[in-house]
This record gives sequence, structure tokens and C-alpha cells, in this order.
Amino acid sequence: MQYIKMYDNLTFSRIAMGFWRLLEWNYTDDELLNLIEKCLDFGITTFDHADIYGNYTAEAKFGNALKKKPSLRNKMQIVTKCGIVYQSETARVKYYNYSENYIIQQVEKSLKNFGTDYIDLLLLHRPSPLMNPEEVSNAFKELYTSGKVRTFGVSNFLPHDFSMLKSYLNVPLITNQVELSPLNMENLENGVMSLCLAERIHPMIWSPLAGGRIFTSQEDAAVRLRETLEIIRKEQNAEGIDQVVYSWLLTHPAGLIPIVGSGENIEFIRRAADSTKYTLTPEQWFMIWTAVKGHKVP
Ligand SMILES: NC(=O)c1ccc[n+]([C@@H]2O[C@H](COP(=O)([O-])OP(=O)(O)OC[C@H]3O[C@@H](n4cnc5c(N)ncnc54)[C@H](OP(=O)(O)O)[C@@H]3O)[C@@H](O)[C@H]2O)c1
Repeated sequence: MQYIKMYDNLTFSRIAMGFWRLLEWNYTDDELLNLIEKCLDFGITTFDHADIYGNYTAEAKFGNALKKKPSLRNKMQIVTKCGIVYQSETARVKYYNYSENYIIQQVEKSLKNFGTDYIDLLLLHRPSPLMNPEEVSNAFKELYTSGKVRTFGVSNFLPHDFSMLKSYLNVPLITNQVELSPLNMENLENGVMSLCLAERIHPMIWSPLAGGRIFTSQEDAAVRLRETLEIIRKEQNAEGIDQVVYSWLLTHPAGLIPIVGSGENIEFIRRAADSTKYTLTPEQWFMIWTAVKGHKVP
């Protein structure tokens, strides 16, 4: 495993583990504890959550597993997000809330759920037209000075959203968590990666395997992609095409941190962790780009 410095005294593993799908895995607390320990054995120390995952239950499930071995807390970095409100008995529509009180309230809940007294990194889940940056700034200031949140970042922000928010804050934004995979290259082309390079920050990458579509999609681009990934897999002597996809992401100069979405198959997680040992040549990197686009670079 490789590690990457995110900020003073905050280092992430190059491969993070994501818990969006935690409830689908149907783990008991002991089984989940075993999964967490396996990740740590593989060198994965960064765990990605959100208040809403598992319809607001995933954080507490993770916290219950952690309570069985509290000594693991300081061996990991907990990332969580807030700002999305799901439709429910108390919310007539799904919406975004970034008021000062709501951000603080959600962090208090996350701390309780995890059974911890600090979050390593708090992300604002999505930009909102109603986000008042002064309220966000006040919330961040309070959460930082009380020691409840060590660092802050955003998710799914375009460069103009990022720059606007940054200009109001007294604390740095240390990452932008965005979607990126060979089957979704939008964030490679819209300025987000250039922003990360200019800001010297490392983006966290969600759905690195396109939510599994890399393996299953029958679209022409995906079929061409799989053929190309297999050629490169053989050249790199990698175990699976998943590792070639992770290394396609890891090769980018912005220092990307792919988040693994698979939790039931421990082998998938081990392979993801091991993918840090491969580096694609520029030619191999563009073979993947070309396969998906269906044409050569200009
Ligand atoms: N910030 C945001 O807005 C946002 C949005 C979405 C996700 N996320 C974060 O990103 C994480 C990853 O997203 P994701 O779950 O969509 O990631 P992904 O890795 O693109 O997709 C995971 C899916 O691919 C399947 N899969 C098939 N073969 C696989 C293999 N060899 N290795 C790994 N997975 C394989 C998995 O199936 P099995 O489960 O059967 O293994 C799982 O259903 C989430 O857990 C969450 O933490 C953030």
C-alpha cells in the first residue's frame, strides 16, 4: 500500500474503503469488524462514509463494530459527509441543507453513531444553490475549534463551486470527492482535476469501477474497454482487470484516491489494495482512453 499526505498530520491510504453499500452486505457486527480488520491488514486505513448511507444507519452499524475493538479507531481515518436530506416523514422532498445548525447537528449525530470524539475529514456532499458560504464557514470554525472535525472538504464540486466556498473559509478544503472511471471521464475534462493540481489537493474517487458496469455493461464502449483492459492486464501481469482500472486512476498526477465499493468479496478488496504496485505507461493509459472514446486523441 502507498500512503498520501492530505494535510498536516493527516495521511490517507492510496486506496480507501467505502461504506455506501454496507447494508446490502448484511454483515453482523462481528463480520463487519472482521472486514474492517482485513482492510487494515491490507493497508487500507481510510474509511469513507456519509450520514445518509444505509438510509442513515450505516455510520451506527460501523460504530457498533468498532465498539468491539475501540483500539482500531486511531489506526484509521474516518471520512463522512453531510448536506443531503432524504425524503421521509419529516421531509416532503429530497433536498440539500447546509445551514450552520444543520451541519453541526449532523456532525454531532455522526460522532455519536461512530462512537468517536472526532471525524478526520468532513465533506459537504454536493453543491447546493442555497449554500450560504458564511454559514458553512461558521459551522466549520466551530467544529474545528471544538476538535470535533480535523479537516474539511467537498464532494461533487465543480471548480467554480470550490473556489467560491474556499474564498469564505478560514480552514482549507483538503479534497474534492468526485466520480471518475474509464466509463465516466467527465471529471477528467471539466477542470476538476486541474483544480486539484492547482490547489495541491488529492481528489477521492467514487465509483472507480463505474458501480460494477466495467464488468457488466454491454455498451460498445464497455466491450471495447474490457478487451483493452485485458491486453494491459497481461502486459502488467496483474491479477484482474479491476487492478488495471485502479492503476489507470492511480497513474494520474493529481494523486487520486480510489474508494473501493465492494464489501462482500474480500478478494476484491485485497486486489484493490495491491493495485498500488502497478503503474501504467502513458501509452497504456491512453489505450484505455481511446477504447472508451472510440477514437484517437486529436
Ligand atoms: N461522494 C459521493 O457522492 C459518492 C457517491 C457514490 C459513492 N461514493 C463512495 O464511493 C464508494 C465506492 O462507490 P461504488 O460502490 O459505486 O464503487 P465501484 O467500485 O465503482 O462499484 C462497486 C460495485 O462493483 C461491483 N464489483 C464487481 N466486480 C468487482 C471487483 N472486482 N472489485 C470491486 N467491485 C466489484 C461490486 O459488487 P459486489 O458488491 O458484489 O462486490 C459493487 O456492487 C462508496 O462506497 C462510497 O463510499 C461517494
